[in-house]
Amino acid sequence: MKTRLETRAMFAGYRPEEANMAVKPPLHPASTFVFPDARTGAAHMETAYGVEGAETPPDGFIYSRLGNPTLRMAEARLAAWDDSEDSALFASGMAAISTTLLAWSSTDRPVWYVGPLYGGTHHFLDEVMPSMGREVRQLEGLERLDLDLIATGGKLPGIIYLETPANPTMQIQRIRTAAEWAATHSTESHRILVMVDNTYLGPVLQRPLEEGADVVLYSATKYLGGHSDLIAGGASGTAEAIAKVKEFRTFLGGMIDPHTAWMLARSMETLHVRIERQQENAGLLLAYLREMCGADAVKSAWVEDLTAMGEDASIAQAQQKGGGSMVGLTVPGGREGAFAFLDALKLFKLAVSLGSTESLAEHPASMTHAGVPVATKESLGITEGFVRLSVGLEHPEDLIADATQAWKVACEVANLPV
Ligand SMILES: Cc1ncc(COP(=O)(O)O)c(C=O)c1O
Repeated sequence: MKTRLETRAMFAGYRPEEANMAVKPPLHPASTFVFPDARTGAAHMETAYGVEGAETPPDGFIYSRLGNPTLRMAEARLAAWDDSEDSALFASGMAAISTTLLAWSSTDRPVWYVGPLYGGTHHFLDEVMPSMGREVRQLEGLERLDLDLIATGGKLPGIIYLETPANPTMQIQRIRTAAEWAATHSTESHRILVMVDNTYLGPVLQRPLEEGADVVLYSATKYLGGHSDLIAGGASGTAEAIAKVKEFRTFLGGMIDPHTAWMLARSMETLHVRIERQQENAGLLLAYLREMCGADAVKSAWVEDLTAMGEDASIAQAQQKGGGSMVGLTVPGGREGAFAFLDALKLFKLAVSLGSTESLAEHPASMTHAGVPVATKESLGITEGFVRLSVGLEHPEDLIADATQAWKVACEVANLPV
């Protein structure tokens, strides 16, 4: 029977026949697995290490850093959501991002990226990768890739890395522009891979692989996990792209543990319901904030706000299925006003992270993006008055009331009429 995405994702990776007809998949905490005989054990291990002439082993597990039944089940669920040939899960979003970037970059395969990006990714690209001999180039945008190629003396990138909408400024990148340019400039021996961090919208609201990206990345700590009770990351893409990522994961050791994989698989069953309801709540809050604070103070990946921000909203209309539930608000009074707003909130929890059932609020300039150089923050629009809200599943009117009273406190601090 032909099924739709939500149905496939519900059952992916597990059949009750595998475990006493239990409706739900079991959790396998085992670190290691028994080989049926020594010859099979040798075939497994020699294949894992790429020993020449190794016998092809039968399907099976060896050791949980290389693979585990619970991990495989959870990966099948992520692959179902992304409609990808394969997916890999990690101990964190940063483990997914760093492992994938290391796997597909080299001295001959520089990384080009468009900012802003999550602060940790920025740091990894600008500080860590160059210290490991990788060339990294920050692009001004995707409109002038040909000029960037001239500027690098014709040295092609191995990776074009994007985050759209970007954390925390909601800047949108047209994935297809990068994918089309990469396809035009790729050769058989030099494939340029387009990688997209899709943490902000998730697979329900944005489908980068369908826009031509090769790998989609997630902090699964956010919407995929969705309950602020686990740290995880994910990468989805073609079998070839993910095979190399899994090879690096084996040696860097950043795989997800079975318990977290099981929790994540459970969360992914309700992903669409949470995402859609959180987005609905965000829509109501956004409409209210535009009225109360003025359109210029409000940022989001919704078409109305992108238009007000001077972004090309047609890109979002074409590649997004919605604006999601992340809200940016520029509070009067700079850092003092922003802190007064955050300290006055009663329902929104003052905490970094996003995409959970409860609403969260934070100050990017001093918290999630504290490590980004001041000049870069200024050029990207991460100002001192900017706060980031992640809208959860509380009643929207309670969230509106909370934001309203906190805004009034901030206006008093900034000596503005309330
Ligand atoms: C867009 C984005 N990508 C990646 C990460 C890193 O994920 P993690 O904290 O799970 O390592 C984050 C974390 O906030 C994020 O917001």
